[in-house]
This record gives sequence, C-alpha cells and structure tokens, in this order.
Amino acid sequence: MKDQTSKKFARRVAVYPGSFDPVTYGHLDIIQRAAQQFDHLIVAVLNNMSKTPLFTVEERVAFLREITKDMPNVEVDWFRDLLVRYMQSKKASIIVRGIRSVSDFEYELQMASMNRQLDDSVDTIFMMTNPKFSYLSSSLVKEIAKFNGDVSEFVPPPVAQALKAKYAPES
Ligand code: PNS
Repeated sequence: MKDQTSKKFARRVAVYPGSFDPVTYGHLDIIQRAAQQFDHLIVAVLNNMSKTPLFTVEERVAFLREITKDMPNVEVDWFRDLLVRYMQSKKASIIVRGIRSVSDFEYELQMASMNRQLDDSVDTIFMMTNPKFSYLSSSLVKEIAKFNGDVSEFVPPPVAQALKAKYAPES
C-alpha cells in the first residue's frame, strides 16, 4: 500500500535525448507533447566528440532554451556519456523518442532494447511525430539551407537565421 502511494505521487522525469543539429519543428512538437505527459522533461543534447556537427553543443542548447523558454517544466541540458548513465545521474527512468516512419522504428527498437539491457530500470516511450512533420529531418534542413533554400517552415526563426548565416556566401 505504501509503495503504491509513493509510486502514484512520484515525480515523473523523462529525458528526450538527441543530436538536435539543429532542432526542427518536428522536435518541438515532440517536446510540447511530452511536456504535457511528464512532470519534468529534460531535453538532452548529445555532445558527440566523434562527430562534427554543424552547430556546437552550446549553439544547439541555446536554440532549444530559446524555443522552450515558456515551458516551465522543460529543462535543456547536454551530455556526453552513455545515455543510461546520464539518466541515472538525473534520477530519470523514461526516455522519450519521436518516430516518423517504420524505418525509424527499426533503429529505435534496437536502441531502446540496448538501453534496457544496459539498465533494466529504463524504459523508452515512443511518440508518433505529427504527420505534417513526418518527412522532416535535421539533415534535410541543412541540405536545403546549404543550397540557399527557404527553411522557415521547418525550423524556428533563430535556427533559420543561424542556418542562413552559416551558409551565407563569403564576401
Ligand atoms: O538525434 P539522434 O542522433 O538520433 O539521437 C541519438 C542519441 C543521442 C539518442 C543516441 O546516439 C545516444 O543515446 N547516444 C549516447 C551514447 C549511448 O548511450 N549510446 C548507446 C545507445 S543504445
């Protein structure tokens, strides 16, 4: 009985991890929906030393902080450890991931199963991406920006401006 009560009132902390290079409206949609389902949502940006992202981890965190500034239960952080270890350090046991397609699911299933194998107290919850963003990815957005295309319908304004600046022809 005591256990049930403490579980019922336990603060539910979830982590939404990713590269977010850069954050898109597809990510933002997942953040908004996940923030409604959990007491506290940590958006955690991977600082992957072996990859060369377009935006530094500081830039990616800053974009996320800017676009989530009116969401009181959302925190933006970064990590460079194993995800399950990061989760332990935050006392979080739920990973949130967005799924756009069946092909996403195969990779996500593998990752979720591996994370559970590494730490069986961790569970992954999948949220289906809003169909209007099902084709959207950070890589495609970067490709469009690189060729000077308009990305304003895919990413929030500060990201669109930063992409424009990154790819602006040097004078
Ligand atoms: O946005 P992405 O690139 O699809 O996110 C992938 C991410 C960051 C969730 C994944 O690469 C990750 O968790 N990396 C941290 C290192 C780790 O724990 N790897 C094992 C995962 S099974």
